[in-house]
Amino acid sequence: MTIPSRWPAVLQAVMKGQPQTLTDDHYPQWHLAPVIGLMNDPNGFIWFAGRYHLFYQWNPLGCDHRYKCWGHWSSADLVQWQHEPMALMPDEEYDRNGCYSGSAVDNQGVLTLCYTGNVKFDDGSRTAWQCLAVQNEAGGFDKLGPVLPLPEGYTGHVRDPKVWQHDGQWYMVLGAQDLQKRGKVLLYQSADLHSWQPLGEIAGHGVNDLADAGYMWECPDLFELDGTHVLICCPQGLAREPHRYRNTYPSTWMSGDFHYDDAKFEHGALHELDAGFEFYAPQTTLAADGRRILIGWMGVPDGEEVLQPTCEHGWIHQMTCPRELHFRDGKLLQTPIRELQQLREEEQNWHGNAASAPALDAGRLEFELKTDAAVKVNFADTLWLSLDEKGIRLERKSLRNDEILTRYWNGKVTSLRVLCDRSSVEIFINEGEGVMSSRYFPGHPAQIRFEGASVITLRYWLLRASM
Ligand code: FRU
Repeated sequence: MTIPSRWPAVLQAVMKGQPQTLTDDHYPQWHLAPVIGLMNDPNGFIWFAGRYHLFYQWNPLGCDHRYKCWGHWSSADLVQWQHEPMALMPDEEYDRNGCYSGSAVDNQGVLTLCYTGNVKFDDGSRTAWQCLAVQNEAGGFDKLGPVLPLPEGYTGHVRDPKVWQHDGQWYMVLGAQDLQKRGKVLLYQSADLHSWQPLGEIAGHGVNDLADAGYMWECPDLFELDGTHVLICCPQGLAREPHRYRNTYPSTWMSGDFHYDDAKFEHGALHELDAGFEFYAPQTTLAADGRRILIGWMGVPDGEEVLQPTCEHGWIHQMTCPRELHFRDGKLLQTPIRELQQLREEEQNWHGNAASAPALDAGRLEFELKTDAAVKVNFADTLWLSLDEKGIRLERKSLRNDEILTRYWNGKVTSLRVLCDRSSVEIFINEGEGVMSSRYFPGHPAQIRFEGASVITLRYWLLRASM
């Protein structure tokens, strides 16, 4: 790959592409999306000096997975975001094939980015460096270079540092692949962010008797939540099950006890974090008031993404809405952050037979649905949600052909809360016990219709645009 040698000129040209993006009626009205090009993982999510910062994997030069930079947004309230200058570009030997995913920390008042420098060789092999960059007075970021080379015993797939501080020490988890091509999560410790000591493998194939755990684990994130520890990660190569792990790559969580003294994580089973068609590489941070907030990429690197119609308008992918996490009765709960209620216009209510409910504007909407019986929600004849006593079935057509693809959430559904933007839905089940996030590409204006003979109760709001 050649590195564009004149990034600033390239970027000016890129920003001129934005008007083209904004005329696309699939461009989100209240979710984060790239002004142009391809966006994937959320990176460096942090509340720092009174503002939230969210960085992201960004190829501003096209709708494919090349030239990964770190884009940057900031916000006072997680609702209204502003663009910040691009933070990192792959312009050094040690990150020449991409400034890959990572995290941000507050190091004694200095906003510090920890990321992976990805390097590919002509023979198809690769290496990875864990690197640092610090914010300068002008608001840009100065690279400090690599602080950790590829550890022995692993392939070139070691990446996505998530760093945090505990009792005066820094800790870092990394996604990794061992030489037998099995996915792992590695833990490191440092006193100063520069010199790192390995503490071993804390999760993955063979750890805590986990078998068949796939060939590579990406984007780990380990944190304390309501008295337990949760590890979120993205194991690639898990076997698809009839009703679980239906996406090319799933996102998962497991909970347990993490002991800092011997660096052991005793954890339970893997669970799917989001059962929708598009969700990957989430990252969490602590909000100003101590809430644990998660944002995910509403996309999956599955090859079919190139068929999304937004590519014709020069952009692809969006983030999920920010979600608050809790852990209760062995379950990880995810709910939209309460700040999003600012977007609600006047509340509307409706009760009666599903088939006679009003059609709702799917472009910017939040609705809560309650029913004791089966019901179908038709999103603009493009995406269908069927709810019955077994759970939820979400269906849409493949972008490749007319095949109907299905995703499931199994269990008794007592309530549904659905957040819609112009080309996405996020379905929160039973106060966050399950979530299904999906993109879809309806014609606009798009209507949601309720179908079936069951009695339903609806509470709904149009949402204001915030982008
Ligand atoms: C996850 C991922 C990360 C990597 C980044 C590159 O989607 O593959 O493992 O750092 O994307 O863009």
